[in-house]
Amino acid sequence: MNTPLNPDEAAALLKWYVEMGVDDAIGIEPQGLYNWNPPTPAAHMPLGDAKAPSAKMASSNPTIAEIAPGADEAIAWATEIAAGCNDFEALKLAVEGFDGCPLKTGARNTVFADGVPGADLLVIGEAPGAEEDRTGKPFVGRAGQLLDRMLAAIGRSRKENVLISNVIYWRPPGNRTPTNTETAICRPFVERLIELTNPKAIMLAGGAPMQALMGITGIMRARGVWRDLTIENGAHFPALPVFHPAFLLRQPKNKRLAWADLQSLEARLNKD
Ligand code: URA
Repeated sequence: MNTPLNPDEAAALLKWYVEMGVDDAIGIEPQGLYNWNPPTPAAHMPLGDAKAPSAKMASSNPTIAEIAPGADEAIAWATEIAAGCNDFEALKLAVEGFDGCPLKTGARNTVFADGVPGADLLVIGEAPGAEEDRTGKPFVGRAGQLLDRMLAAIGRSRKENVLISNVIYWRPPGNRTPTNTETAICRPFVERLIELTNPKAIMLAGGAPMQALMGITGIMRARGVWRDLTIENGAHFPALPVFHPAFLLRQPKNKRLAWADLQSLEARLNKD
């Protein structure tokens, strides 16, 4: 039997939880994010016929390494659900109903996308933070406000002509870096969003989406260089990695380079 903690021990444990990024009480017992059993597809699949996918269907993308044991099924399940979504709304509902990513357990909201479905510019960032988790919308905190101003500088807004999303749909506890497993589980939905949006250009906001979707590291060198982003079905899209707005808030001297990247984006979007 567990010995009850005295008040000092309890306070020390709470302090440690906070330092480790545990900032939400979601149940009586602590839950290990890495010991989770993905729910069975039949019980949770939100769309169509709930048929258990085979592990063979799991993403074979070489950019995604070190997937936690047991995650194959969740990836296969995400792949099958995403493939069955034929428009933005269906995909949004499917992501909101998907229980295969352990991050969902600790999140207040699913943060899927904001803006105009089918816009010719798709912005993809990393993961929701506290404000995004609270509101259910991507890029609404300080970094998001800067992103809006950057986009406005090239005549773009969420109301009119841009769609904004992330490679992860649930806030990682304490804003820690998402794991390869979490990224791999969300990826089929991200790819389907790209496919359904069919944008003329994709802006990758920061190193994380660039690494997650293209396997490239080193945003300092990679930013401002157009590359083909190829998705699992072979389709490819012009993508431009740029500095993440949160980085620009910390290092405003780099706004000069960010401006050059925005102009390159605008030129590409205005090209026939
Ligand atoms: N940073 C991101 O990458 N995405 C968000 O939605 C918010 C902050």
